Amino acid sequence: MELKEVIEKRRSFRSYKKDDINKDIIEDILNCGRLAPSAKNRQPWNFLIVKRELKDKIADLMLEYTKNNNEKRKSNFPSSVKETAKIIKQAPVLILILRPKETNWLIEDSLSIGACVENMCLRATDLGLGSLWIRDIEHVSNQIEKIIGYSNLELSCALLIGLPREFPKQRPRKELKDIVRWY
Ligand SMILES: Cc1cc2nc3c(=O)[nH]c(=O)nc-3n(C[C@H](O)[C@H](O)[C@H](O)COP(=O)(O)O)c2cc1C
Repeated sequence: MELKEVIEKRRSFRSYKKDDINKDIIEDILNCGRLAPSAKNRQPWNFLIVKRELKDKIADLMLEYTKNNNEKRKSNFPSSVKETAKIIKQAPVLILILRPKETNWLIEDSLSIGACVENMCLRATDLGLGSLWIRDIEHVSNQIEKIIGYSNLELSCALLIGLPREFPKQRPRKELKDIVRWY
């Protein structure tokens, strides 16, 4: 696909088939993440590939979290943690993206990770796969850290990958004229 077509076709997929994705394809997607630009070329990303029981365990932790914290919402947006957890259960591959625990570089590293994850989303689209960029996982990051046991790293976000069950419509976008000013 042409790059523009890939960009236009990328969606957040929230419905997946159970079929596993083979290692070569996952590595191809990770490699596209690895090639992203990063502030000071710090490449502040580590990837943990999580499947089957551990993936489902993470989703269960998120569901448990919603039972105990159902009144908590981020600013004016309704919580999507429960829905995201259910989607994690459906899809075969969850990629945890970890960054160094270094507060001095928080903004730069987070921006760099954004570029990395978008590269992976675009490559997944190009390969006919669906993906979902996930931040709702942050609520259970301490528990995940305890289970997996990584040190000097912390969870930034996650990316779900799988064969899509359906192709969602594009969500609304602001018009260029409303967000651009030329001087
Ligand atoms: C940093 C980031 C975090 C996100 N976290 C979640 C999430 O936890 N759960 C979810 O369902 N969607 C999540 N999304 C997907 C957004 O809701 C989605 O990108 C947005 O609604 C636009 O839809 P589209 O991706 O289909 O164009 C996230 C997207 C980004 C960029």
